[in-house]
Order: sequence, then structure tokens, then C-alpha cells
Amino acid sequence: MRARNDNGDTVVGLEIGTTKVVFMVAEQRDDADITVRALATHPTTGLRKGQVVDYESARTCLRETLHELEQNYSIPIHRLFLSLSGPHIQTSRNRGHVAVLNDDHEITEEEVRHVKQVAAAITLPEDRVVLHTIFGRYRIDDEQSVLRPEGMEGARLSADMLAVHGSQTHLRNLAKLVRDLDLECRATVFSGYASAAAVVRPEQKRSGVVVIDLGGGTTDYIAYASETIAAVGVLGVGGEHVTNDIAQAFGLTTREAEHIKLDHGSAWPERTTKAIELPRQYNRKRTVPLASLRTVIHARMEETFGLIRERLESEGILAHVGAGILLTGGGALLRDADVLAEKIFGKPCTVASPWRLHGEGMADRPELATVAGLVRFGLRNESDAGRRSGLFDWLRVVWAGDDEGVEQDDIFG
Ligand SMILES: Nc1ncnc2c1ncn2[C@@H]1O[C@H](COP(=O)(O)OP(=O)(O)OP(=O)(O)O)[C@@H](O)[C@H]1O
Ligand SMILES: [Mg+2]
Repeated sequence: MRARNDNGDTVVGLEIGTTKVVFMVAEQRDDADITVRALATHPTTGLRKGQVVDYESARTCLRETLHELEQNYSIPIHRLFLSLSGPHIQTSRNRGHVAVLNDDHEITEEEVRHVKQVAAAITLPEDRVVLHTIFGRYRIDDEQSVLRPEGMEGARLSADMLAVHGSQTHLRNLAKLVRDLDLECRATVFSGYASAAAVVRPEQKRSGVVVIDLGGGTTDYIAYASETIAAVGVLGVGGEHVTNDIAQAFGLTTREAEHIKLDHGSAWPERTTKAIELPRQYNRKRTVPLASLRTVIHARMEETFGLIRERLESEGILAHVGAGILLTGGGALLRDADVLAEKIFGKPCTVASPWRLHGEGMADRPELATVAGLVRFGLRNESDAGRRSGLFDWLRVVWAGDDEGVEQDDIFG
């Protein structure tokens, strides 16, 4: 069924990333693949690590990108799906319990609905907004761990819940940016979650997989293990930190350091006597030893992957990740990032771009994972079936065989 809304048959995703703002307009094909109709991207101004720091500058940046999109493609934009990231994103876990009071102790949809409500009822500080309420496995009588308890018998049903929440102030100001463009935000999605929706295959989710989105200012991760979402997190480091490290180490401007990173960077240290020549400054010849450059990059990348590994190991998740690691986001384009990740996690690692996404220039674009996930999310949500059942069932379609839900506080009014 085609998605119909104010934008015609299309939906719009917007990622306001640390380095780039990107709008993607896409439509569903009859075979469930997605065709990208329009794309506009601009270097971000006015935001740091997903947080607005200069409102006017951020607004101008968004307005210009939107204008370019509407001009170049003659597509009027009214509504969109927005991604969110930044170190303010955190998670909380809770386990809810209910007694099964039916005469025959059979668990029905009613008990499942009830236990979810109990598990989701957590108290957070006033300035936190819940983005996603994700339900994992259920337990019957504290023993058996099951995916779908309906129809089974027991005296007590428990549900595990993972809430992804963010700072209300940051959300409010992003929402205001969107409103100021006279656009309606249909939903906000944690960017790591959106990226996973774009790059992960269902069989990988079933086997267990970790998706790491290496952005400019943030690194998001999401781990699927034991047929559920086992962990979600954000590190406040990204490709810009690598660039800054290079600039600091060799006394370069950020622009020079970024060029060097893109042209000669690698996450894998190398023994070599080669040197890279830099553009002359005040007629002075300058070189950077290639081995030193790679050592600097390696140190930052090793630390980033190491932090994620530590978190996943401490929660006992890594042992349940059979399909390995998927690297996405622009930082995944760093040479040998996958080789280093494979060594650190001790798992197979692949650079992953959005799949089942068609359109000119859409192949091998890991930096578009988040926005591609947003349109995928949006198309499911806006389809006739999605509208009837809401966000909860959208996820059930994507993550076949699971039982997870997404609910969202509507701060967009
Ligand atoms: N070929 C490449 N080699 C190394 N790094 C690269 C390459 N291409 C892009 N990058 C890095 O990827 C980063 C940008 O990634 P991306 O576009 O995913 O970020 P973003 O979405 O704007 O940021 P965030 O998600 O953190 O808010 C930059 O730091 C850039 O230097
Ligand atoms: Mg990003």
C-alpha cells in the first residue's frame, strides 16, 4: 500500500547532523524497496553534537537547504521525520511484573498490555523526554524467557523495557527549528536506531549484530542480541575529533587536517618512512610523516571502539552477537576502520550502507544511513496498515518475529 500524506506519496527525513544537514524525500516501491526522489545536503552551522548553539545560524542553514530542495526538485515539503543524537541521549531499564489471575492462568493480550504498562512506568527527572520505549523479552514465573507469551500459562508475567530518553531543552529547540520552517514533525527517532533500520538485514538481527554510526561529532551504537534490542548508546566523539587530533598533532588548520585525513588517513598504524607534503604556507615547505598521521588516527579510533566494546562486554551482550559489527555513518569511510573494529571486537566487521534504497548516487553512502532509516520508518508509519496500527506495528514489520514497541512523547504538539 502506498503512503499518502501532505507530501503526496512521499515521506521526508531530516538529519541535522554535526557536519551536514540532509533532507531526503522518498517513496515506497511496490516491491517494498524505497526510491529516493530528492536529496539536499548542506554543511551544518549553528549546532554542536546535535545541540543548537547558535539558533539564527542553524535556522538559516536549514532554510537554505530546504529552499534548495524545493527549488531543485519542485517538491513542496510539509511534514518530516527527524533524527536526534548527542551525548544527552541516555537509556534506562526497568522490569515490570503482573500476576496472571485468569482461572486457567493462560496469558492473554490483556496481561501483555498490562505488563508493558507496568514496565514502562518509570520516573525520570522532569527535563527528560522519552523517545522510545523498547520491550525486550518476557519472563514467565521468573524462569522461562520468551518472545511472545500470549497463549502460554504461568502465575506471573514479567517484561523487560529499555527507555531511550533525551534532554527536553535540546529536543524543544530542535522542534522549534522545524516549526520555524513551517514544517510539521511527525516523529523524532534516535539516529542510531534510524541508521540500524536502514542497514541491518532481518537475518542479522536474528543472529545478533551491533550497528555503529560513526558521525562527525557523535558515535551512536545499537546492539541486537537474543532477538531483542539489548543496548543503545551515544559517545560524544566522532570524525571531527579525529580531525582535531591531526590538527593538534601537526600544527595544522582544521581544514588542512580534514583534507589530510580524507586523502591519507587510515585507522591502521603502518610502519613507513613516507611523508605527506602539505600545501605551502608563507612559502615554507611542510611535510607530515605518514606513520605518525596513522598513529594519531589509530589512537582515537581504538579508544572509541574500545569504549563501546567495554560497555557491551560489561552487559554480557557481545557474546550474543553472531553477525558481527556493521560500521556506518561518514566515519565508516575512514580507510581500515573495519579492520581495526574487527581486531577490537573480535568479530567480523563490515562497512554498511542503506540497502533496498534506489536512486541516483544512492549506492555505498554510509553517511546517509540515518536519513535513509528515517524515510523507511516514515513510509511504514504512514502506510495505511501503519496508520491503523501505529508505530508499534511498524517496528514489528521491520523486526519480524520480535516483540518490541516504540512510543513517543509528543512534544511537537
Ligand atoms: N573518506 C573518509 N575518510 C575518513 N573520514 C571521512 C570520510 N568521509 C567522511 N568522513 C568523516 O565522516 C564524518 C561525517 O560523518 P557523517 O556525515 O555521518 O556525520 P554527521 O551525520 O554530520 O554527524 P553526527 O551524526 O555526529 O551528528 C566527518 O568527520 C568526516 O571527516
Ligand atoms: Mg549522523
